[in-house]
Amino acid sequence: MQKITIIGAGRVGEATAQVLAERDLCRVLVLLDIKEGVAAGAALDIQETAPLFGFDTRVIGGTNASLMVDSDLIVITAGIPRKPDMSRSDVLATNVKITNAILDDVLDYAPHSKLLLVSNPVDILTYYAWKKTGWDRSRVMGQAGVLDSSRMAAFVALETGYSVKNINAMVLGGHGDAMVPMTRFTTISGIPISHFLEQKVIDDIVKRSRFGGAEILALKKTSSAYGAPAAAIAEMVEAITCQRCQILPTVALLDGEYAQKGIAMGVPCVLSGQGIEKVIELPLNNAEKKMFDETIKNIKNDLKRL
Ligand code: LAC
Repeated sequence: MQKITIIGAGRVGEATAQVLAERDLCRVLVLLDIKEGVAAGAALDIQETAPLFGFDTRVIGGTNASLMVDSDLIVITAGIPRKPDMSRSDVLATNVKITNAILDDVLDYAPHSKLLLVSNPVDILTYYAWKKTGWDRSRVMGQAGVLDSSRMAAFVALETGYSVKNINAMVLGGHGDAMVPMTRFTTISGIPISHFLEQKVIDDIVKRSRFGGAEILALKKTSSAYGAPAAAIAEMVEAITCQRCQILPTVALLDGEYAQKGIAMGVPCVLSGQGIEKVIELPLNNAEKKMFDETIKNIKNDLKRL
């Protein structure tokens, strides 16, 4: 891939730029922010790590939207973060406005790119971006489930003491408190976690995963998480840039899958060079169906506020 642009040089944007550069995933990496000097400074700082990490990506930062011209992939992290006691939905109105202005620039300068939405509420903003651009749903996606699944896998590793290398967790649904940790599909070397952990411990892991973002925000108070979010974004970007055909939980527009249309939420997708190459529909049991109904209800309530 030639060119990736990250919009928003806050903590998540900057951390993501560092990880993408370290992995040498593109020739040119642009970091944009409306605050004078912030993106330019961050980009230069990252560029100066190149000799130490050994990457050839050129990192450019600035305020001028035209820097994104002809990007192959655009990652949107711009928006106001939530404060402790706020839900991700509480920042909806402001972040829709910010995203709307960014999308105008994207349509002007990079009409052939793919979009990866990160700002919250990510399910709503992904839907909004798809609707506004009119692009094929394969080119508009959001990050949530890779982060939530990584959190869940980390908790499984901490509880069992086993290596994260063989732990595969899956969290679907909306990126809110009603997200759906799929314990039935969470395994250690292919063995379901119920073989190793008591139901009560699994229930605690489910709860901790659902509130994983809030746990960190409550501890840090003035900042949301950004290390794990950046790593999660990089996982999706790499699946696309390296054309891996990787199955990852992705915020995708549904077109009949899970009996839904005109709604974006986290479902397993095949990610590769085109973006979302396929949405995978899993058969749900009754308990999972109930949790899906709940998360869908919440997303639909937020969609009404657009
Ligand atoms: C979190 C925020 C970024 O889950 O949504 O940490």
